[in-house]
Amino acid sequence: MILIHNANQVVTVASFGGKFKRGREQGEIFVIERGSVLIRDGKIEWVGRAIDFNFGLYSEVEIIDATGKVVLPGFVDSHTHLVFAGTRENEFDLRIKGFTYQQIAEMGGGILSTVKRTREEPKESLLETAHNYAKIALSYGTTTIEIKSGYGLNLDDEVKILEVANELNGNPIFTIPTFLGAHAIPPEFKGRKDDYVKFLIDKVIPEISKRKLARFCDIFCEDGYFTPDDAEKILNVGRRFGLLPKIHAEQFSNYGGVKVGVKVGAISIDHLENISDEDIQLLSKADSVAVLLPGVSFFLDYQYPPARKLIDSGVPVAIATDFNPGSCMSLNVQLMMTIACTQMKMTIEEVITAVTLNSAGAVGISDIAGSIEVGKRADVLIFNVADYRMIPYFFGINHIDAVFVRGKRVGIKASA
Ligand code: NIG
Ligand code: FE
Repeated sequence: MILIHNANQVVTVASFGGKFKRGREQGEIFVIERGSVLIRDGKIEWVGRAIDFNFGLYSEVEIIDATGKVVLPGFVDSHTHLVFAGTRENEFDLRIKGFTYQQIAEMGGGILSTVKRTREEPKESLLETAHNYAKIALSYGTTTIEIKSGYGLNLDDEVKILEVANELNGNPIFTIPTFLGAHAIPPEFKGRKDDYVKFLIDKVIPEISKRKLARFCDIFCEDGYFTPDDAEKILNVGRRFGLLPKIHAEQFSNYGGVKVGVKVGAISIDHLENISDEDIQLLSKADSVAVLLPGVSFFLDYQYPPARKLIDSGVPVAIATDFNPGSCMSLNVQLMMTIACTQMKMTIEEVITAVTLNSAGAVGISDIAGSIEVGKRADVLIFNVADYRMIPYFFGINHIDAVFVRGKRVGIKASA
C-alpha cells in the first residue's frame, strides 16, 4: 500500500459515476486541501483529508510525503498519431516562410510523406521510436494515450502500426488503439477514392476487427480527403465490426463532420476549428465529447476552436495534443493546458477536467480512469507546485515530481 500524504491540494476531478462533465460542471474539480490518497493493488483505496486518514486501519503503508505539492489524476491524451516514422521539420520551415498546411500537402509533403516513410520502416524500429515518444508523454504526466493508425493506408502497414500501438500498452503507459485507415487516399488509389473506401470496408475493417487490434474507428472528414457520406459509411461499418466511431471534423472547413458524427453516435468529435453555431447546438444535445487540439492551431498558426461557446452551450470538452509529425510535434499536455487557457479562454478548472475526466470519456475509460475516486485505477500525478493554477501558469516548464501508473511509481526520465 502506498499513501501519498498531506498534499497541499488533491485535485480529484470526482465525477460520481459520470462519464464526463458538461456546462458549468466542467469547472467543478473538487479540491481537497491538505489531502491524502491511499493506493492498494493498483487502485485508489481511499482519498480524503490527511488528518482523517486512520493509520490504525492499515499496516505496512509506504508513505510518500507530498507536503507542499499538488496531486492530480494522470492525464489522458485522447487524440494522438503516435506511431510514425521520420519527422517533417522541412514543412515547419516552409510554413514559417508562408506556405499553408494544405499547400505543403499538395506539394508532396503532408500525411502522404509520412505514409511513405512509415511503410518503409520495419516494425521493430517503429516500436522503438513509439516507445520513446510514449516515455516523453509520460514525463509530462500522460498515463493513458490514444493512438491512431493512418500512416499505413494498406492492410499490412495499418496492421503493423496497430500492433505497435497494442504492444506499447502498459509499457510504461496505457495505450488505446484507433483505426484511422481513412486518414488520406494512398498513392495507389489516387483518383479512385471510392475504391479505397470500398477496400477499407470490405477488407481492412473486418481484418482489424478479427485481430482485435483497435477499439475505435476514426476518419479524416475534410475537403480533399473523405466526405461526410464516406464517414457515415465507414463509421457504420466500423461499428458493426465492434469499433466505436470517432471523427476528425471541421478542421479546415465546415464540411459536415459534426452532423455525421452525431448521427452515427460518435464517442468523440475532434478538432472543430470551423464548427458552426448550428453544429454547436447539435453537439450540445448529443453525448459525444468534443476533443479540442490547441497545439494544432498554435503550431499551424490557425484559428482556435470556439471552446468558450462549446462549454457555455453544454458541450463536454476534452483537450488533447494530436501529437503527429505534421500539425503538432508536442506531447506536452501541460503546455496544451496553457494554450487552452490563454487562446481559448477556458478556465484553469475547465482545462483540468478536459485533460483528465473528459479525455477519459472521449476514449471510453471514465469508469476506470480520469479522476481520483475510490475503485479507479491509481494513475496519479504529483506536481512540484503548491497550487494547481501554477501548472498552466508556468508554461512550457515541466512540473512533474512523480507519476504513478496503476499504483506503481514509474521513472520519468525521457529523451527526445
Ligand atoms: O490530426 N488532420 C489530419 N491528421 C493530422 C495531421 C497528420 C499529418 O499532418 O501527418 C491531424 O492534424
Ligand atoms: Fe488528428
